[in-house]
Amino acid sequence: MKTKNPKLSSVRQKKILSFVFVYWKRLALASLCMIVTAGANGAMAFLVKPVMDDIFISKNREMLLLIPGAAVLVFFLKGMGSYGSEYLMNHIGETMIRFFRDSLYEKITDLPISFIHKEKTGVLMSRITNDVNIVKGMVSTAVINVFRDFFTVIAFLFVIFYRDWKLALGAFIVLPLAFYPIVLFGRRVRKFSTGSQETMADLNSFLHETFTGSKIIKIFNLEALEKYRFKEKTKQLFRLEMKKITANALSSPIMEFLGGLGIAFIIWFGGMRVINGTSTPGTFFSFLTAVMMLYDPVKKLSRLNNTIQEGAAAAARIFDVLEEESPILEKENPEMLSGKALDVEFDHVSFSYTEGGPETLTDIRIKAAPGEVIALVGMSGGGKTSLVNLLPRLYDVTKGAVRIAGKDVKDLSVKSLRDHISIVTQEPILFNESVRDNICYGKMEAMDGEIEEAARAAYAYDFIQGFPKGFDTVIGELGSRLSGGEKQRICIARALLKDAPILILDEATSALDSQAERVVQKALENLMKGRTTFVIAHRLSTIDYASRIILLKEGSIKEQGTHEDLMALKGEYYKLQTLQSVKGLE
Ligand SMILES: Nc1ncnc2c1ncn2[C@@H]1O[C@H](COP(=O)(O)OP(=O)(O)OP(=O)(O)O)[C@@H](O)[C@H]1O
Ligand SMILES: [Mg+2]
Repeated sequence: MKTKNPKLSSVRQKKILSFVFVYWKRLALASLCMIVTAGANGAMAFLVKPVMDDIFISKNREMLLLIPGAAVLVFFLKGMGSYGSEYLMNHIGETMIRFFRDSLYEKITDLPISFIHKEKTGVLMSRITNDVNIVKGMVSTAVINVFRDFFTVIAFLFVIFYRDWKLALGAFIVLPLAFYPIVLFGRRVRKFSTGSQETMADLNSFLHETFTGSKIIKIFNLEALEKYRFKEKTKQLFRLEMKKITANALSSPIMEFLGGLGIAFIIWFGGMRVINGTSTPGTFFSFLTAVMMLYDPVKKLSRLNNTIQEGAAAAARIFDVLEEESPILEKENPEMLSGKALDVEFDHVSFSYTEGGPETLTDIRIKAAPGEVIALVGMSGGGKTSLVNLLPRLYDVTKGAVRIAGKDVKDLSVKSLRDHISIVTQEPILFNESVRDNICYGKMEAMDGEIEEAARAAYAYDFIQGFPKGFDTVIGELGSRLSGGEKQRICIARALLKDAPILILDEATSALDSQAERVVQKALENLMKGRTTFVIAHRLSTIDYASRIILLKEGSIKEQGTHEDLMALKGEYYKLQTLQSVKGLE
């Protein structure tokens, strides 16, 4: 998905800020910890003067005891403050990660199928895994830097001016020259890291695609090509990373050198004041310590912009998904569907996958009486799957209406609509859970007996029993051991268990051999009794028992009637049939 706007709009900024400020108590406590840390940092530079002047020069024994004690206290406070702020800020950050992950998953799950098909799976996954982390980086790191480093800078500035304001004024003409390159380097780093992030997301979806498609890659001998494509991507990533690293690695030495010039100036100017007797060695060293310690927080503050920019880009990508408009599927006070015998009507239905795009289905008119079995046949790509997808509203019609029991499906509660439809999809879909759970998707509260019954009826019981843990075997444990036909039979068992009044079988038995098919067919015939059924089949043997056959071609109904009617027509159906029997003879 293209990010419409890599910068965050003010509305989105407010959303993030309001999220953070919900935790204002934690935030306040974290700020307090940061102030303590900053104060302790300043105190460290401050203590250098009494160490020098009172202990080393005046040889004051009382101070010899007091100052180490003070140092211990300062370090203790610094440690406590640092722990507290890190813990609290990361707690807020992690809470935010969780919130965004959950919301993204909820959103994506609720979005219509068309959205999920439009996006690459790898890209959607990286929204939930990577981008969320980057936003967290922005929130916790940036906030920590802003507060802690800002307070620390203030504390050091206080020490610097308190110790020797004349020297401070001199130094502040020289030091900005040393600090300016930080900003320049920061910009370069940012440029490269945006590039490397995009390449990384690209790499992710490449991996996802090639691993899931590994079979094809092997069969078509594409290993060399894929390796080459992958290496091109890692090469690009390498270049970007190296540029980033070079900028980063150069920034420290150059800044240190420039800083060295500044310090040389301070030694010259400050040393002169000590020699003249206008300052003491303690004052000078305390000053120098504070200036040197200033480097780190200034550097971090200068990088802040990077972190914020990166985070903002990631947050924009996240918000693009979260703000994706989901078409409202349900109207207010939707009707509930009820009853065991339901008629289905496609009333002048037209449908296209894209707005204004070519019509996949044109002016379809079908009336199926309760309990009627209708077979949909036709060449591949004719629109059979698209047509049945309109029933459970996986997609919505572009024109016309789909009615069940006289009610437009758009007026029905989506849950109640889908509760009344059972489907065996064209590709068997199993989740990485136990076989039992996979069948249970049909009816979550089913008892073991019912599940086994369904498996028996789908002729799946025996092979399931042969699995290492029977019904409790997790699909993933079987690896790719399940055959296409076995997968289909588990899916059929799931559909059987659901026991819904409307049944859709999309090539449900296509992966079975003729013998197994005949057996499962019987089970399906039993299942179809009294249910309004749409059977899609290429094999004409599977549609014998349909009361009506509808032939779809290029999205329109070309022929319909009984097998005998259509054979007598000597049209498309006749052609399909004869083609098949010729094939059967081969
Ligand atoms: N998600 C989609 N987005 C856009 N076009 C699609 C989508 N799914 C299918 N189509 C197109 O719609 C047309 C009808 O496809 P459909 O899957 O309904 O055919 P089918 O009759 O079920 O074919 P098959 O017998 O091969 O399963 C095809 O031209 C196909 O390319
Ligand atoms: Mg299909």
